[in-house]
Amino acid sequence: MKTLLVAARANPEVWADLFRAELPDHAILTAAPPAGTPVHYVVVGRPAPGLIPSLTGLEVVLSLNAGVEHLLASGEVAPGTPIVRMVDPGLVEGMVDWVLAQALAWHRNLFIYAASQAKGAWAPLPEKLARERTVTVLGAGALGGPVARMLLAFGFNTRLWSRTPRDIPGAATYAGPESFAAALAGADILINLLPLTAETENLLDAAAFARLATGACVINAGRGGHIVDADLIAALDSGQLSAAALDVFRGEPLAPDHPFWTHPGVRLSPHVAAPTHPHTAVAVMAGSVRRWERGEPLAHVVDRARGY
Ligand code: NDP
Ligand code: OXD
Repeated sequence: MKTLLVAARANPEVWADLFRAELPDHAILTAAPPAGTPVHYVVVGRPAPGLIPSLTGLEVVLSLNAGVEHLLASGEVAPGTPIVRMVDPGLVEGMVDWVLAQALAWHRNLFIYAASQAKGAWAPLPEKLARERTVTVLGAGALGGPVARMLLAFGFNTRLWSRTPRDIPGAATYAGPESFAAALAGADILINLLPLTAETENLLDAAAFARLATGACVINAGRGGHIVDADLIAALDSGQLSAAALDVFRGEPLAPDHPFWTHPGVRLSPHVAAPTHPHTAVAVMAGSVRRWERGEPLAHVVDRARGY
């Protein structure tokens, strides 16, 4: 019988019960067994340092997160051990909701009207149609693709930027660093759904913000390390950006004295854009275990060289 260790920090027993239902022929643990006892699969978000190398017989690491930069940075997963990142319909639905909510709220000036209401001011603004707005989505993967398709369904003039060329009917697609400037040029809304890698870290800086339309909105659900925080604040202060909706930060929880907390142009949420939902996620991870045991190729294995 093969063994799966649930090393989730929150509610491991909830996850374990779902795994027991999905994989009744497996031993499901929530604490590492005595040294030398095999653990074939481990389910991790941000594992305690030393946990993964301490496991014997580990075959596959199942990540609770879509972004795995922390697992790669730890260097604790042996190079030959596949890491399967989280690609799950629940995550996609959550991300589409959160990004669309932010994009639509900015597009229809809802936060400005909320501020007017607080002052008792009746202050209508010129309203645009979605097709009069250009939205650029950075990242055309499991999350960026569905977000772009939903933006298209709402009528936004939609662009997508990725590392390799992607085809999303109706969207203008751009690939590679040489087309980054063109993907951003004049965009009203910039949505970041990139993984954090050596190539994407600090990508959203003063030069990037300057390429957007004056008064643009930045929506970041990728990682905090994509944004140069001081450049974002400066762009908001200068009016080059009118708003930033941020779900992820360089340090989480966000430090109490970070200027994002109080800046009038920033709307923040505590890394909840697309939480991992146990029911949908366990079904996906159990599917990976079954595929592995049938000798079939695993899906969504992290490419160590690309970093995502
Ligand atoms: P995917 O791996 O499916 O997609 C990543 C996309 O980014 C791909 O289109 C890829 O290009 C593109 N990309 C990667 N590197 C570059 C680069 N150097 N230049 C241009 N494009 C690049 O990831 P997901 O869509 O599943 O997730 C994306 C990120 O979203 C995660 O890594 C995580 O950081 C974040 N996330 C945040 C959550 C939240 O709650 N805030 C929840 C879940 C994820 P290509 O198509 O060519 O490979
Ligand atoms: C993820 C996340 O990467 O929660 O899944 O950010």
